[in-house]
Amino acid sequence: MIYLDNAATSFPKPRGMVAAMEECILKYCGNPGRSGHAMSMKTGEEVYQARRKIAELFNISQPERLIFTKNTTEAINMGLKGVLRPGDHVVTTTMEHNSVLRPLKALERQSVSQSVVRADREGFLSPADFEKALRPHTRLIVATAASNVTGTKMPLAEIGQIARKKGILFMVDGAQGAGSMDLDVEKLNIDLLAFPGHKGLLGPMGTGALYVSPHVKLTHMIEGGTGTESRSRLQPCEFPEGYEAGTINAPAIIGLGHSAEFVHKIGPEVIGRYEEELISWLDECFDSMPYVERYGPAACRKTGISLINIRGMAAEEVTSILNSQFGIAVRGGFHCAGLAHKTIGTWDRGAVRISAGPFNTLNDMEKLADAIRQIGSRQTAL
Ligand code: ALA
Repeated sequence: MIYLDNAATSFPKPRGMVAAMEECILKYCGNPGRSGHAMSMKTGEEVYQARRKIAELFNISQPERLIFTKNTTEAINMGLKGVLRPGDHVVTTTMEHNSVLRPLKALERQSVSQSVVRADREGFLSPADFEKALRPHTRLIVATAASNVTGTKMPLAEIGQIARKKGILFMVDGAQGAGSMDLDVEKLNIDLLAFPGHKGLLGPMGTGALYVSPHVKLTHMIEGGTGTESRSRLQPCEFPEGYEAGTINAPAIIGLGHSAEFVHKIGPEVIGRYEEELISWLDECFDSMPYVERYGPAACRKTGISLINIRGMAAEEVTSILNSQFGIAVRGGFHCAGLAHKTIGTWDRGAVRISAGPFNTLNDMEKLADAIRQIGSRQTAL
């Protein structure tokens, strides 16, 4: 199969990640931070090394401020619900995934209000619109690093500056940017960064994290065992254990540490440029096909995503033909981001999303382009 669904989860994974997980499971996997024996301590040390390596990738100076979660959605929920209080106002965007929009909708019931900054049809946001949306009680701006629908990269540096100037918290959903964009929390003034392990960081599914900057006070989302202060009924506030109640997925986190190191050695921006080259070639092909409608900006202004429809065909039908007749994996539909589709004009039909990863080649792009050419020509001949 030709895998072009890396925005949903990356495939394949670095071999070193699998080897690290296997070694952990087969040789030493004790419960970290719970017991004083060698296996527990070895696992604790490896988890710490993973945390350190991942922190380095985002220029996080205090690795303990990185809380492991099971995915980005959990990290975003933890961040939003951990800092917002009744009466607060939040600014977000029309390009957000439901992992941001749904918790914010739920928070309306707790008197947290929101303003949604509208992007243009290519998914671009104007920093000036963020400034206009601010109110005296705005506590947080939350924005995606890059759209999971169009790949459009957001003006994080400008938004971060606005937030810093006004004393407002800035939270970034790094689901699509982590691993292929420079997400330096210091340079971009990011207070909370949620990201997945299983996408651009090339780690296993079931991993994600939330970075919480040292000046942010976070309320716990769940309480339970931390391996510390066991005689107290109160949840400890120490990072990270106070926010990682219950046994963590140590083998997966250790695997993620290795894949994050793999990404760091190559460099997220190098990976991003490689994906951009692949998508740029593909977009150019699509733009020469009269039966293809393409959405979103030029490749240099987005992550490795190309979003299209074939005129007269449903997105799901194209996706299904690519799978069954050509052995190509892509994602069609609404990508858990209905408002983004509304913004770019595909609310009624969704679209076919092709997403490249660091292991894809130009040959994969040629095969996909050829498949779309065949499907489109057959449709035109009807
Ligand atoms: N959020 C992931 C996607 O965009 C799953 O496909």
